[in-house]
Amino acid sequence: MTRKRVAVLISGRGSNLAALIDAAKAEDYPADIALVLSNRPDALGLARARDAGIPTAVVDHRPFGDDREAFERALDAELNARRIELVCLAGFMRLFTPWFVGRWSGRLLNIHPALLPQFKGLHTHRRALESGVRRHGATVHFVVAETDAGPIILQDSVAILDGDTEETLAARVLEVEHRIYPQALRLVAEGRASFDSADAAKNAR
Ligand code: GRF
Repeated sequence: MTRKRVAVLISGRGSNLAALIDAAKAEDYPADIALVLSNRPDALGLARARDAGIPTAVVDHRPFGDDREAFERALDAELNARRIELVCLAGFMRLFTPWFVGRWSGRLLNIHPALLPQFKGLHTHRRALESGVRRHGATVHFVVAETDAGPIILQDSVAILDGDTEETLAARVLEVEHRIYPQALRLVAEGRASFDSADAAKNAR
C-alpha cells in the first residue's frame, strides 16, 4: 500500500491535526501527514507539527489583502512542492474561491462542528443550544464552492444534556471530531469514499 501524502491546513490550536497525526502512526493507516500549513505564523498547531517532525509552512494571508486567488496560488505552490495528494482543512479560517476548490475537488476535506446541513457557518454550539435541538455533532465532508455544503463523508452526534453550556457541548463534540476525522480520511485515502464534481454536475442535469 502506498500511503497518500496529506497536508493539514490550520489556523489555530490544531487538536484535529493532533488526532490525524496520531492516527497516521498506525502502520496500516493509508495516509501520511506530509505537511502542516498555516495562514497564521502564531498558530499553536504548528508547534505540534514540529514536535512530531512534520514539515510546516506558513502562508500568511495578510500581505495578499483582498486578492484571495493570489493567496491560494501561494498555498497551491506549497502543496505542489510537497507533492500533496489530499488536503484536510482542520480549523482553517479562510474561505476558498471556486478556483482553489475546483483545483482540489474530490481531494479537499473539511471538518465542521455541527450535523450538516444544520448550522453551517460559525458559532455552531451556541446556535444548537439556542435552537432547542436534542442532538448535535460533527461532520467531515468534501469541500465544494458553497461553504459547508459538500457531500458528507462521515458524521456522528452526541446528546445535548440539560445544563450544557457552549463550552461543555463543544468539548463533547470535539471528541467526536477527533474520532471521525481520521476515519473519514481513511475512507478517502483508500478510495472507499470519493466525490467527482463532473459526475455530480452530470447527474444534476
Ligand atoms: C474545530 O471545532 C473544527 O471543527 C472547526 O474549528 C475547530 C478547530 O479546532 N472547523 P482545532 O484547531 O482542530 O483544535
